[in-house]
Amino acid sequence: MDLLALLEDRSEVTPTLNKHGYAFNCVSEFTKAFHDFAGTAKKPVIDVGCAFGFNTLHALNRGAKVHAFDMDQQHLSLLRNQSPREFTKRLHLVKAHFPQEFNFPDNSISGVLLANLLNFLHGIEVRVGLSEVFRCLEPGGQVFIESPSPYVKIRDDYIPVYEKAVADGLEWPGEVKNINDYGPEGLFVNFPNFIHIFDPNILTRELQLAGFTIEQSCYFRRPYTPEIACLDGREAVGAIGKKPIE
Ligand SMILES: C[S@@+](CC[C@H](N)C(=O)[O-])C[C@H]1O[C@@H](n2cnc3c(N)ncnc32)[C@H](O)[C@@H]1O
Repeated sequence: MDLLALLEDRSEVTPTLNKHGYAFNCVSEFTKAFHDFAGTAKKPVIDVGCAFGFNTLHALNRGAKVHAFDMDQQHLSLLRNQSPREFTKRLHLVKAHFPQEFNFPDNSISGVLLANLLNFLHGIEVRVGLSEVFRCLEPGGQVFIESPSPYVKIRDDYIPVYEKAVADGLEWPGEVKNINDYGPEGLFVNFPNFIHIFDPNILTRELQLAGFTIEQSCYFRRPYTPEIACLDGREAVGAIGKKPIE
């Protein structure tokens, strides 16, 4: 099987089978940074919330050992069935919840990808999750994050709500109880009601609290952002944290 042809042939997004949004089948600057890092990793990497494994397959293609971690068995089974035979020895599927069932030994992992995953977690789960990621990474190991930001055109009625929550000093200004209150009706049909939206300040704060140094933390636009979502280049947030080498 020609893996790269398979990855390029996919449509840009695939709806998840458990109503947890859409899996992206395109490379962004933050997922590419993870793929590149995975190609140099001495220890395994983890793709948390891997869905159908687009980023897992890229990391395997770079020669990494990968734990593909997702709460949905159907996603993992599709990934296993799609993986070329030469990859299966380096692919380990983990059906589990993050962070409650994220049980990797201390210092055993080189890199972790959290792509379009933190937006499903409450603030306290994000905090616990990042400290667990920090614990299992080897010194010098890195965590790569990408997630939706408040600044999306099609739900721009949410922007003033977010900015007020920040101005009011809320610890987690982006926790949204019902995302269906925003944007046109039917936009969030393949999502749970609760969604957590981040900005770079919150990601930086939480990464530093967990012990990471910040390699990068910024707004950016994913290359596959649809026209109706494009506001001003701040549609997504990305961050890279590094576990210090003592
Ligand atoms: C929007 S998809 C993102 C897929 C991929 N990471 C990407 O960026 O395209 C979110 C995935 O995370 C999984 N997921 C959501 N919350 C999770 C949790 N708490 N623990 C494990 N997996 C979770 C869902 O099952 C789904 O496959």
